[in-house]
Amino acid sequence: SKIRHYKFSVVRKNTTRLCASKPIIVVNGKFPGPTLYAREDDTVIVRVVNHVSDNVTIHWHGVRQLRTGWSDGPAYITQCPIQTGQSFIYNFTLTGQRGTLLWHAHINWQRATVHGAIVILPKLGVPYPFSKPDKEEIIILGEWWKSDVEAVINQAMQAGQPPNVSDAHTINGHPGPAPNCSSQGYTLHVEQGKTYLLRIVNAAVNEELFFKIAGHLLTIVEVDAAYTKPFNTDTVFIGPGQTTTALLHADQPTGKYIIAISPFMDTIVATDNQIATGSLRYTGTPAFYPTGLTAIPSKNATRVTTAFMDSLRSLNSRDYPANVPQTVDHSLLFAIGVGVNPCATCVNGSRVVADINNVSFVMPTTALLQAHYYNISGVYTTDFPATPAMPYNYTGAAPANMQTLNGTKVYRVGYNSTVQIVIQGTSMIAPESHPTHLHGFNFFAVGKGIGNYDPVNDAKKFNLVDPVERNTISVPTAGWTAIRFRADNPGVWFMHCHLEIHTTWGLKMAFLVENGKGPNQSILPPPKDLPKC
Ligand code: C2O
Repeated sequence: SKIRHYKFSVVRKNTTRLCASKPIIVVNGKFPGPTLYAREDDTVIVRVVNHVSDNVTIHWHGVRQLRTGWSDGPAYITQCPIQTGQSFIYNFTLTGQRGTLLWHAHINWQRATVHGAIVILPKLGVPYPFSKPDKEEIIILGEWWKSDVEAVINQAMQAGQPPNVSDAHTINGHPGPAPNCSSQGYTLHVEQGKTYLLRIVNAAVNEELFFKIAGHLLTIVEVDAAYTKPFNTDTVFIGPGQTTTALLHADQPTGKYIIAISPFMDTIVATDNQIATGSLRYTGTPAFYPTGLTAIPSKNATRVTTAFMDSLRSLNSRDYPANVPQTVDHSLLFAIGVGVNPCATCVNGSRVVADINNVSFVMPTTALLQAHYYNISGVYTTDFPATPAMPYNYTGAAPANMQTLNGTKVYRVGYNSTVQIVIQGTSMIAPESHPTHLHGFNFFAVGKGIGNYDPVNDAKKFNLVDPVERNTISVPTAGWTAIRFRADNPGVWFMHCHLEIHTTWGLKMAFLVENGKGPNQSILPPPKDLPKC
């Protein structure tokens, strides 16, 4: 294994999209940012230097950070932000993961423009467990607002209302072709007969997306840096924070084929139906060749999302076994949703809030991991509820008394204990799909369903053999998902909805995993340059 050094300069740069320029925060002057390449078992050292007037942190989304929680990145959870003119060195080893992940800023809404891909190649000499591609391509999906992104969220928070939806979706930073802005959109160049490995990353702020290439099937081989049983699909469903790696065989007649991304939103509140397009172009296609069209799934195509999620299975081979916890020490039920609270200071007298088990998480002003490590009291409490205080019909009509509690509460578990969380979607304002992300672990998605989870009958149907292993999972609208993980990583680990607006409203919590008693079972000491709050 090797040590890979990177330098990330966080700068503000004037960038033009949709016929207009605005200064955005980016890494090394690039949007999307640079790709971080490494092999499994390598150590990655990234020196992040903050040259902007805003505070910064970077999160390596999906990287396990075994005993190195200091390098995880969420502001006020594992570290205080890197202030203007300051730097911080993230230092971590890539253990037991291979495939595609993403990195992104983890403070306010900065990740809208501060993000990029992470590619973890297999160890030297170890082949992929699928046919070797001729070429690899990174495809990052995102969103673009014409106005300043922090202004969008600040205004929404003051009004207590949802924020304006983005003005465009982007593929590798490009909105669809807009001839009057002399923008071509993204083009993937291919040669007939060759095979391409597409590393697809959803870096959007608030959107679950469909991804499609006209006339071509994709073979899914890995998600969230864990290999899957290969399967063919014409549509990829990908939530924000998720990654999907697929083989594309350029086996169609020479020509130009449309690449389209479109949002998935199967609720009445959906107002956003922008489609971004790019194209797949075969070498030898004449210059003005028309692009073939494709049928785009409707934005409420739950059938498509269900079929895609049902097809995902761990590879579970001899070399890559799925170590699914077969017993459970902590059985949790997390009811998640979005509601409305009275608010004296808000424009409308009320504001939208989001919660888990009625707790809207309040961000601390001292990082939780530091408070835990140095035994600083008064920063958090350990009484995060294992189940909702008052069970109700989660997916039925909302009860009147859904007043959420506020607090900085964590759920504490012993080293190496096994945890099952049934994440139950609720219908407080309107049911909505929640792509939920857990830091510090890969989990197994052992079951899911529509309606309320039934602990007697649903648990019997759990897949404890080859469930998909990932770090972010879409909880079906008005339904539930069950996940299991082993708490073998001491530290403080954030869990939240990866729709940034839901995180902002409070749909987040943290696990505190105690140190073990054996060697190599404790969190490492903090780095010397860890920022102060
Ligand atoms: Cu990708 Cu806590 O986030």
